[in-house]
Amino acid sequence: MAAAVTEFRNPFRPGAGHMPPYLAGRETERREFARLLDQDVVLENVVLTGLRGVGKTVLLETFKPMAQRARWLWIGADLSESATVSETALATRVLADLAVATSSFTMEVTREPFLFNQPVSESRPLDFQNLSACFASTPGLVSDKLKAVLELVGENLPTDCGGIVFAYDEAQNLADHAAKEEYPLSILLEVFQSLQKKGFRFMLALTGLPTLFPKLVEARTYAERMFRVIFLERLSEQESRDAITEPIGDAHCPVTFSGESIDLICEVSGGYPYFIQFICREVYDLFIQRLEAGQPASVPIDEIMRKLDSDFFAGRWARATDRQHELLWVIAQLPNSEAEFTVQEIVAESKARISKPFSGSHVNQMLVSLAEAGLVYKNRHGKYSFAVPLLGRFIKRQGDPTS
Ligand SMILES: Nc1ncnc2c1ncn2[C@@H]1O[C@H](COP(=O)(O)OP(=O)(O)OP(=O)(O)O)[C@@H](O)[C@H]1O
Ligand SMILES: [Mg+2]
Repeated sequence: MAAAVTEFRNPFRPGAGHMPPYLAGRETERREFARLLDQDVVLENVVLTGLRGVGKTVLLETFKPMAQRARWLWIGADLSESATVSETALATRVLADLAVATSSFTMEVTREPFLFNQPVSESRPLDFQNLSACFASTPGLVSDKLKAVLELVGENLPTDCGGIVFAYDEAQNLADHAAKEEYPLSILLEVFQSLQKKGFRFMLALTGLPTLFPKLVEARTYAERMFRVIFLERLSEQESRDAITEPIGDAHCPVTFSGESIDLICEVSGGYPYFIQFICREVYDLFIQRLEAGQPASVPIDEIMRKLDSDFFAGRWARATDRQHELLWVIAQLPNSEAEFTVQEIVAESKARISKPFSGSHVNQMLVSLAEAGLVYKNRHGKYSFAVPLLGRFIKRQGDPTS
């Protein structure tokens, strides 16, 4: 018994971008991506969006082998670093990523004749050096230079290559900076739109928080038509069960979760993948300890939620001021706080709940700073939502900040 306990490790993987032991659901999203890979002419790109921890990064990872099976090249990068603050930084990033995928391909170039010699043709690799040379020698703006490089690559791709997917995670960090006259986001959209119009098979796959798509549309209105937006939701009840039970279904797994425990985990995780992994990892470790001690196992949900609160929510909560805490508490009291809510609803609720209610303009202002702090976001219809999953439930657990 003891040997089996030590051999089978806790399979759950709470963390950013850690592939789960079993990726539950997401079939519709994968089918949708397969459809996009199958486009004759690339008219649509993809935006994969959703709240923190809903599974964007790991789903994007599973798109990679799908693309490769369909003979597309895959270029991926994480934009959480500020490599994209300037146009040149963005171009360098694209060139560097591109060269990794294309350096084994060659292009034919004609070398200038020396004196009376005949011009000679030679092949050169599409590596970083040659891509950079093309970039540097193209006159005009950064966008013209980038287009020239991508056209060069597009013209020299092997005939059996399906195209190139440019997959950028955490793409909500892309931004134009008018004050500095740097427009990396607009350039990215413009370059891809222009090349796709010419028939080149390049596709953007951008992943990011719900602020991403409104940001793209703000930069270039045609972004609305350029992207198929896939909004990742929480897992359904059945998918949540699969995410919990599949990883421990192995015959060597020493632990089982009772039906009651599974119901409880589904309920408190709200179907959010990160929370499922987090809670299951804790429960698994505890069950092992109890098993070794010969004790019956039940889920100490209060303790686990306290740990989740301090690991996941507390840092974000601490960044808000007292008055912001009050406003967030008012929002959490709304029956629709887990979906979307309006300024008017918050104003009305604050009148009913607190002695110093908020005015409409005050709520508006505060929502802007809460959005900057990553706690709420404004959707394209002007309504707001919490940007962190199950934030409302966490706030309620903290109690009334005004009392
Ligand atoms: N479909 C799924 N089934 C089970 N677990 C999942 C699923 N999707 C994601 N997870 C788990 O959820 C956690 C969060 O996943 P991931 O990092 O991909 O989320 P994200 O949306 O990229 O988060 P962030 O917004 O912080 O970048 C990981 O621990 C991952 O293993
Ligand atoms: Mg991610």
